[in-house]
Amino acid sequence: MHDGYRTWSKAKLVERLASLEQYHLQSQALVDRDRETAQDALRDSEERLRAIWQTAVEGIVTIDERGRIESMNPAAERIFGYAAAELIGKNVKVLMPAPYRENHDGYLDNYKRSGHAKIIGIGREVVGQRKDGTTFPMDLSVSQVKLHDKMIFTGFVRDITDRKRLEKEILQISELEQHRIGQDLHDGICQHMTAIELMAEVLETKLAKQAKSLAPDAEKIARETREVISQTRALSRGLSPVLLESEGLMSALKELASNTHDIFRISCQFFCLKPVLIDDLTTATHLYRIAQEAVSNAIKHGKAHEIQIVLSLEGGTLTLAIQDDGVGIQSPATKKKGMGLQVMKYRAGIIGGSVEVRKSDNGTRVICTINR
Ligand SMILES: Nc1ncnc2c1ncn2[C@@H]1O[C@H](COP(=O)(O)OP(=O)(O)O)[C@@H](O)[C@H]1O
Ligand SMILES: [Mg+2]
Repeated sequence: MHDGYRTWSKAKLVERLASLEQYHLQSQALVDRDRETAQDALRDSEERLRAIWQTAVEGIVTIDERGRIESMNPAAERIFGYAAAELIGKNVKVLMPAPYRENHDGYLDNYKRSGHAKIIGIGREVVGQRKDGTTFPMDLSVSQVKLHDKMIFTGFVRDITDRKRLEKEILQISELEQHRIGQDLHDGICQHMTAIELMAEVLETKLAKQAKSLAPDAEKIARETREVISQTRALSRGLSPVLLESEGLMSALKELASNTHDIFRISCQFFCLKPVLIDDLTTATHLYRIAQEAVSNAIKHGKAHEIQIVLSLEGGTLTLAIQDDGVGIQSPATKKKGMGLQVMKYRAGIIGGSVEVRKSDNGTRVICTINR
């Protein structure tokens, strides 16, 4: 137990007061030290953030809730070709080409009203526009931060031009390679096998005269060879579906429709009111592959009973449409990510066109258009 202070001698009281003073001084020093440590830590983290901001490979752009640019890091300046000072206070729309430019205010308003974000926390591929007016594909992800009652949006941007070019090249190379193998099978192996088939038939005729009992063996060889030829032809057709002639696409699509009908026992029709002639094999092959993927999706995902493939050329616009009567594709936000639709877009892009996939009144409609 402590002594009651009333019983303390003066000397003891002085000693106690002095130690209390000492204690105060010490604790003040501790508080000061803590404050300094906290300030150091704050400075340290600010410096760290600034270094990240300055050196990030990704472009970072922050905007306020009305879409006005508040800041932009050096990578974003490089990507868009602007100095940050030129853009601060301007609407972020300047970094997008039409039609995204016109829609952006709508996105923000819609988000503020409904809280439903099309992009926040998801990240997607969009198109950006540089100061010189050129456009480029970019990956954009947006996060939102509440800062003292104020909402700011932070966009992280990466220019993916090179990646897209590489993807296109890979697709093109694989297409060319498939085409080459298909052609080799058709022109090389099939021709060879046809010669063997003929030889077997000649042998059969000879044997029928000289050694009758052996003739059926030769006939069997000829039959088996015919079967190998027909399988190899089918394989070659799959690898290189469009023949090198301007009606090639029309006949390939017709065959796609009739094969689909035969194999899946559903109605699949090809319509082409006026002949559409395409001299460029690459264009024809990409269009064919788009139709093939759309048909396969209609069967696999749409569970369609009826598919129509329509090819037309009207006023310089070539249109390839595939309509199915299936369950209908879901809206993009909930759609599962598959390769097929993505590759379709690439193919359309490579041949200077675009592709749109949407739910229609009674199923799904895929429309690919090219201005020629
Ligand atoms: N014709 C269609 N009808 C219904 N859903 C479709 C149709 N086409 C595509 N989809 C939907 O879009 C998704 C993505 O298609 P796709 O990219 O071709 O991928 P995959 O066929 O490899 O699953 C599918 O999983 C499906 O949910
Ligand atoms: Mg698919």
